[in-house]
Amino acid sequence: MPKTMIEPFRIKSVEPIRMTTREQRVKLLEDAKLNVFKLRAEDVILDFLTDSGTGAMSARQWGAIMVGDESYAGARSFFRFQDVLQKLTGYQHVIPTHQGRASERILFGVACKQGDIVPNNTHFDTTRANLEFNGVEAVDLVIPEGTQPATIHPFKGNIDLGKVEDLLKREGDRIPFGMMTVTNNSGGGQPVSMANIRAYADLLHKHGKPLILDVCRFAENSMFIKLREAGYEDRTPESIAQEMFRLADGCTMSAKKDAMVNIGGFIALKSEKWVEAARNLLILTEGFSTYGGLAGRDLEAMAVGLEEGLQEDYLRYRLRTAEYMGEKLLAGGVDIVRPTGGHAVYIDAKTFLPHLKPQDYPAWSLANALYLEGGIRGVEIGGVMFGKRLEDGTETYSTMELVRLAFPRRVYTQSHFDFAAEVICDVKAKAEQVRGVRIVKQSKYLRHFAAEMAWA
Ligand code: F0G
Repeated sequence: MPKTMIEPFRIKSVEPIRMTTREQRVKLLEDAKLNVFKLRAEDVILDFLTDSGTGAMSARQWGAIMVGDESYAGARSFFRFQDVLQKLTGYQHVIPTHQGRASERILFGVACKQGDIVPNNTHFDTTRANLEFNGVEAVDLVIPEGTQPATIHPFKGNIDLGKVEDLLKREGDRIPFGMMTVTNNSGGGQPVSMANIRAYADLLHKHGKPLILDVCRFAENSMFIKLREAGYEDRTPESIAQEMFRLADGCTMSAKKDAMVNIGGFIALKSEKWVEAARNLLILTEGFSTYGGLAGRDLEAMAVGLEEGLQEDYLRYRLRTAEYMGEKLLAGGVDIVRPTGGHAVYIDAKTFLPHLKPQDYPAWSLANALYLEGGIRGVEIGGVMFGKRLEDGTETYSTMELVRLAFPRRVYTQSHFDFAAEVICDVKAKAEQVRGVRIVKQSKYLRHFAAEMAWA
């Protein structure tokens, strides 16, 4: 076979990209108060803000949508969805929700109480927020390599088992369950090995605690295991995923990622312990237990997407996309979190813009520069997202200053990625011209979404 890896799909339906000039983008960004969240998506050429809900559905998924059963209770589409998940996970109990954070809110609402502690490799923002909302302490115990951008390790998402054991011994009474995020989004989309999941599950089970997986990107993680973990070379991603689910006791999922849909999620559980309470809470705020805030057609699209997301050719191409972008950026002298993860590339803005200080918000400045140069939208993961203005008016900053370029599934082709890499390397070549920014207006919580900024 030739070396060039092609997109393993043909394009049947297209959406035009509106091209803009630099001059127009200067004005558009000023109007958006130098905050890319405030741009209209139409004014973006390549949108790498998130891989969540932004993927392209297949002809098979659109076909399935047309046969969705919209019955209020007991819809055929629910049973089809449930069958796919029972076969994949081995868990009997399937609870649909409208997206990941709804699964989190419902499960934590029934399984946790004030004063509890939940360990994880790294909690995603909404996971942490939903735990803290219930008075639970969310503890991140990823291995040390997982927080060092330049350190190469095949499974940087692994949890530190020594620290887990310590926590179980010290605070066991306060731990209702352990969690594991596959792949570890907040740590750079890094995978977790099967050996680590097995050892973590054994440790938790020895202390009588269940393991709940956050499986937004379980298919990408399964492919990493196939490519990197001894003994899995000849296995299908599906059988690897099945093994992973069977080691744990349940999961929450945002189907907007590896289930290849624009909206949807679920909770799936092995034992019936929390099921009745979760269904009662679901009925209170999401909808009846066989649709959980979704339309029947959404359940059909998820049922198909869960299978398509596990296809080996697709996953090989998917992981290669991030790797390909990473190689191009490294060749242009751009530092990134290494190795590349499954769904995104994370640029180190501190070394990209060495002339900027933390108070210039380097990652925010770089995200703006990428938009101005080529209409590319990424997201800042740095001082604006994680810093705070304290009561006395002083500011705290962030140790990492990253720009995440997250890749929608099956949306962009190789030439889009070539264009993006060219733009980023062009900005790098004149990096000293990129100006810092300052915060003009901010809210108390999640300030990055609404902040108004100005050039420093
Ligand atoms: N868990 C992980 C690991 C996630 O990445 C996300 C969402 C969620 C839970 C919440 O799911 O958005 O459906 O409610 N991540 C998106 C992102 C938003 O851009 O990384 P949701």
